[in-house]
Amino acid sequence: MTMHGSCAELYRQKLATAAEAVRLIPSGAKVVLPPAAGAPPAMLAALADRARAGGVTDLQLYYMLSAACAGGTVLAPDLMDHVTPMSFFHGSVERELDAFNRAHGKPAVPMLPCHFHQVPRAMVDAIGVDTLIATVSPMDERGNFSLGTNVDYTLGVARKPGIRIILEVNPDMPRTFGDCEIHVSDVMALVEHAAPLPCLGPTPRIATDDMIGAIIAGLVEDGACLQMGIGALPNAVCANLHGHRNLGIHTEMMTSGLADLMKAGVVDNSRKQTHVGRSVFTFALGDQSLYDFLHENPAMEARPVDYVNNPTIIARNDRVLSVNATLQIDLSGACNSEVVNGRQFSASGGQLDFVRGAYASNGGKSIIACHSTAARGSISRIAAQLTGPVTTPRNDTHIIVTEFGWLDLKGKSLAERAAGLIALAHPNFRDELGEDAHNSGLVPRRLFTTS
Ligand code: COA
Repeated sequence: MTMHGSCAELYRQKLATAAEAVRLIPSGAKVVLPPAAGAPPAMLAALADRARAGGVTDLQLYYMLSAACAGGTVLAPDLMDHVTPMSFFHGSVERELDAFNRAHGKPAVPMLPCHFHQVPRAMVDAIGVDTLIATVSPMDERGNFSLGTNVDYTLGVARKPGIRIILEVNPDMPRTFGDCEIHVSDVMALVEHAAPLPCLGPTPRIATDDMIGAIIAGLVEDGACLQMGIGALPNAVCANLHGHRNLGIHTEMMTSGLADLMKAGVVDNSRKQTHVGRSVFTFALGDQSLYDFLHENPAMEARPVDYVNNPTIIARNDRVLSVNATLQIDLSGACNSEVVNGRQFSASGGQLDFVRGAYASNGGKSIIACHSTAARGSISRIAAQLTGPVTTPRNDTHIIVTEFGWLDLKGKSLAERAAGLIALAHPNFRDELGEDAHNSGLVPRRLFTTS
């Protein structure tokens, strides 16, 4: 099939170098950057050069989970007088920037608390973003570019009337299907740049990860519809699911572990109520084999986050089972999944979206998991009080898992929760936690003395 003539002509007219394209972004612009693999490296480098040369200033950059190519360019510490990072989800780039800022007496990187499914509306309505830069796969014969790995908030922002859209066309970006396309007529400029996508290497799994993975796999019934969160634990769960059958996927993040379950035939999406036969996701981050598997794969559907993470949409499938990690759980079951030692480590992302969506699904289960300790066993993650925000409130938590077992919190009193959660804590901390629970009037002391 030949490419439609007028689309090919539009493509040629809009083609620019990265340096030319970023000149379209004026000082004071509110620029949206897709997470991780969707970031456009050539344009980010050109934008950083331009800001450094004084050609553009007062930029506000709105994004989640920035890629290393942003950290090495527009988010470099020396550009912070010209570029303000406005992060909905911190990663290592923001943590390093925060450490730099602290050392130089500067304020922390701005963080915008928001459920992931609400981010597109926050960007469009509340913030009024005016520019989108993103990586896409090459144009098809109808003049469409696929957002590939990153539909998330990117497509919602692209649909804002009047938005300035500048795309980086990368042949390494997989062409995905679903609801993920931008038409050449809506684009202001195009930059061609071939570059491998950033890969998330396999996180080394330790024995505790596998213990937790095995416990959670035991809670997964055949035919369940999976969501797996970010971090080492969800991957350990996937590795333990290879004996299961007829699983489905409706997830925020498509991972290499989930793709492996599809390749093995464990996931066939046959028992879903929506998008039967297809795995639905809003962004993908993993290794090259994941990106290869995504390319023109009709069994994969990439859709916007305000759809994928909407709890009502999540609940349309039966037996939804969500698995997310946390940093700290208090004795009532509230979870802090985003702040470590008083510092923003990540953000809420879609954790509560899936906790709520999974529990609202027929036969659904929402699982929050963590190792019982952190910092080489010196800190209990089950704590008398949270030292960070409530990412998942105690009213919402359903099943908690540590390497010592699992606990269903629904229908349990505060005293029953405290007793059950202390049993999931590491034995080194159970007495102390029992004392805390007793002192706060929750439970009688005798319940918790292990000596
Ligand atoms: N006190 C002190 N330090 C703690 C701690 C605690 N309670 N809990 C964890 N830490 C430390 C760990 O020791 C580790 O430090 P290190 O890097 O020096 O080893 C660090 O904090 C990170 O902890 P870890 O549990 O290894 O993080 P992870 O990479 O597995 O990610 C979350 C876990 C919770 C941060 C991550 O899943 C997240 O951001 N969740 C929120 C968003 C979400 O769930 N989205 C869902 C859809 S994708």
